[in-house]
Amino acid sequence: MLILCIESSCDETSAAVIRDGSEMLSNVVASQVDVHSRFGGVVPELASRKHVEAISLVINSALQEAGVTVDQLEGIGVTRGPGLIGALLVGLSTAKAMAWSLDIPLAAVHHMEGHILAPMLEEDPPDFPFLALAVSGGHTHLYRVDGIGRYKTLGQTLDDAAGEAYDKVAKMLGLGYPGGAVIDQLAGQGRPDAIDFPRPMLHKKNFDFSFSGLKTAVLQHVEKYEGAIDEQQLADIAASFQAAVVEVLTRKTLSAAKAEGLQRIVVAGGVACNSGLRGRFQELSSKHGVKVFFPSPALCGDNAAMLGVPANYYLEKGRHADDGANALANWTLDTVAADGI
Ligand code: KG4
Ligand code: ZN
Repeated sequence: MLILCIESSCDETSAAVIRDGSEMLSNVVASQVDVHSRFGGVVPELASRKHVEAISLVINSALQEAGVTVDQLEGIGVTRGPGLIGALLVGLSTAKAMAWSLDIPLAAVHHMEGHILAPMLEEDPPDFPFLALAVSGGHTHLYRVDGIGRYKTLGQTLDDAAGEAYDKVAKMLGLGYPGGAVIDQLAGQGRPDAIDFPRPMLHKKNFDFSFSGLKTAVLQHVEKYEGAIDEQQLADIAASFQAAVVEVLTRKTLSAAKAEGLQRIVVAGGVACNSGLRGRFQELSSKHGVKVFFPSPALCGDNAAMLGVPANYYLEKGRHADDGANALANWTLDTVAADGI
């Protein structure tokens, strides 16, 4: 089945053409990062306007790159939620209009379902069941995944998401927005044991996370310098902060895999690009008898190709979104199967 996928939940406008839920023919991403960075975060109203400006161009590029014309399309997949409501509505309205005018079915899927199924587009896809650690700007969730549409939350952040903590710490350090990749790069030049930042929730018996205390500890440490931080101190703070985040994420995830008897772990979302996280999981995997799957960096951040896996599955099952399907700013992944797609 040849599907066009559209993603517009936050600050990336993206379109992709996917064949049979596994072959990526194109994946075009137009980032709005430059527009939002001077405000220190995503401005929802600006995001919606930028999606309106970009969406037709992005869709045309994705079709062109794939060498596909609209009349060859057999279905459309789009993000229904969660995300910024105005931003989601741009993608959803475009997808609905295309599906209706081309008389082809529409699948309206969960954004996180796309993220955690992204490794299925890679050469060595994971088999079910697996444990998924979804780490992005809005999510830090551990899911048990028994198949497409079969997700159970095992734990989640009680406050900030991991990516959000990275972005807030970057802002404190004057490193701009978004700051995850910048901190990651700086961390490579610093000592991870320079500052003993707290490892929140590490010794709690559940699989929940919390990053706001760690963020406050970084702030208190930064305040001691009274604005006079040299380059090495900055790199040490970045490396020590990253070490704390990576330790909590890896240890909690490995404990959850053990508790659930799962040998496969998928790490997905924007923070899955993090070099420290990738390296530590690889180091620990053989010791713990697990195999860890990371999407390639282009499939970690927000992109439309990742929607192709669930969209293809739902369309083949005949689970089509109806004309009334609305965007959902909040939507729990555990209930996608019951909510209708
Ligand atoms: O999945 P994503 O592109 O968008 C959301 O759905 O949120 O994730 C964006 C988040 C941002 O918070 C960004 O700072 C973070 O992913 N990020 C990173 C890295 N690259 C992106 N965090 C840590 N290390 C990185 N290398
Ligand atoms: Zn995302």
